[in-house]
Amino acid sequence: MDMRLIGTLSLVWLFMATAALAQSDNASVVDRNGNPLERGQEYYIRPAITDSGGRFTLINRTESCPLYAGQENTDSPEGLPVTFEPFAEEDDTVKVNRDFKLTFSAATTCIMSTTWMLGQNDTQSGRRLIVTGDDGGYGNYFRIVQAQFSGIYNIQWCPTQVCPTCRFLCGTVGNLRENGKLLLALDGSVLPVVFERA
Ligand SMILES: *[C@@H]1O[C@H](CO)[C@@H](O)[C@H](O)[C@H]1NC(C)=O
Ligand SMILES: *[C@@H]1O[C@H](CO)[C@@H](O)[C@H](O)[C@H]1NC(C)=O
Ligand SMILES: *[C@@H]1O[C@H](CO)[C@@H](O)[C@H](O)[C@H]1NC(C)=O
Repeated sequence: MDMRLIGTLSLVWLFMATAALAQSDNASVVDRNGNPLERGQEYYIRPAITDSGGRFTLINRTESCPLYAGQENTDSPEGLPVTFEPFAEEDDTVKVNRDFKLTFSAATTCIMSTTWMLGQNDTQSGRRLIVTGDDGGYGNYFRIVQAQFSGIYNIQWCPTQVCPTCRFLCGTVGNLRENGKLLLALDGSVLPVVFERA
């Protein structure tokens, strides 16, 4: 075989091996019992720290639709579970730094999807809220990153797996209080979370 061809082939092989390695590098996100979050299973999301509100749930921010992603006011057994749908079809668990869609398991009076979606910049707070709906684009893809302690995570919007060449104004999910309701929002306080199998 031609030396140049061998060189090219081994480069291709090296590239494929590195790509495979980079993917297997991604640790699975684990719930409070240390089990990987599975595609399609229901999990509650709640703050990892006390006095930061309760489990995640749908919030009716206004009289009309859509519903927003938010939290119960208190650390009660209320709230709605979510299911995860990793972007990579071969991922049957949720892995850190990889994109997925997440959807509240709930039927609502709003005839629309309960999938999380990045909302517009809210004029009052100057923060981007998390609303529900399906924009068929990048707005529905979130990811989980490892926080300072094992088993504790942050949720981000930064869909660079879905679009590696895009430049996003990425953000981490925190909360804000509006009219006695806790809403999820980027661009401010950051809320570390844990996951509980429903
Ligand atoms: C995890 O996956 C993402 C997207 O596929 C990739 O950019 C990243 O380098 C991977 N590795 C780690 C260690 O997070
Ligand atoms: C909105 O939420 C309030 C309190 O959580 C509830 O009383 C009201 O019925 C809800 N409205 C709609 C349209 O779901
Ligand atoms: C949202 O709007 C505020 C003020 O209007 C601005 O300061 C902030 O940079 C905006 N944030 C984003 C993510 O566009």
